[in-house]
Amino acid sequence: MTQGSYQVFVFQVPSQAQESFQGELYSMGCLGLVEKELENDQKEITAYFPAEPTLSDFVWSQTLKTKHLIQLQAKDFKSASFDPYPLTPGVKPLYQVVAPPDLEGPKQAGDYDIIIRPGMAFGTGRHESTQLASLQLLDFAQKHSVKNFLDVGSGSGILSLLAHRLGIKKISAVEIDPDARDNALENFDLNHVTHIQLKKDLKEVEETFDLVIANIIAPTLIQLKEQLINKVKTGGHLILSGIVQEEINKIKESFKVLKLIKEQSLKEWQSFLYQKS
Ligand SMILES: C[S@@+](CC[C@H](N)C(=O)[O-])C[C@H]1O[C@@H](n2cnc3c(N)ncnc32)[C@H](O)[C@@H]1O
Repeated sequence: MTQGSYQVFVFQVPSQAQESFQGELYSMGCLGLVEKELENDQKEITAYFPAEPTLSDFVWSQTLKTKHLIQLQAKDFKSASFDPYPLTPGVKPLYQVVAPPDLEGPKQAGDYDIIIRPGMAFGTGRHESTQLASLQLLDFAQKHSVKNFLDVGSGSGILSLLAHRLGIKKISAVEIDPDARDNALENFDLNHVTHIQLKKDLKEVEETFDLVIANIIAPTLIQLKEQLINKVKTGGHLILSGIVQEEINKIKESFKVLKLIKEQSLKEWQSFLYQKS
């Protein structure tokens, strides 16, 4: 999906409700968020959706209860501006997500730019779980030589594209959602990357990898545990992201056959780096 009608919703919520509210918007298919500080400890949140979303009871109760829904408007997504967005916040080099040239992106992408067209896929780079996965990937690739890399639940393809930017030559990706696969293929094109193998199911992947990454919700990570571990070479590593604080112990318990090397958090999200012995 490239063009078409996108919905933009503008909310006003108390600052302390911002985190959970944004998490909920993302879980309903939000492609990106822009926040603005308001007076009286309030935040204005502009949320971009690919189509008319069904807003959850939580969002409605949150907004109605506090009567902070200031406006609900739909406009053409293309009229919104897409400023570069940090994918690896707080570290150098700073990799960033930029829009395609037809959506006000740079005419020539820089060495640390990843072009992502907002579409029907998770992975605009604005979500903490993607940033955490990116930070782990960047740190790992700076310290280790990675011959081959597998991105499970590739969404927009953002982590595969970062892996490419980091110099990893052999990249495979798996995504079950056909819209997300279309979006990823377009993003690979936009970034002039032709060699990433994109598959529909983890079962189609035969080889094992130096590094496997999966930024997927915790219940799915647990469900895919055996398959994920089987795809890691002996001595290889697995990065997991997409885990909220309450799920940390469940993940640790499920993946305890691996050696936990590093954990990192960003806001309420957590990621893990494991090694297979
Ligand atoms: C949270 S998004 C992550 C997207 C991107 N990798 C990122 O980091 O922003 C998770 C993705 O995993 C995909 N997914 C869920 N279950 C999967 C499975 N069993 N196999 C492959 N992909 C899966 C979803 O369709 C979704 O696109």
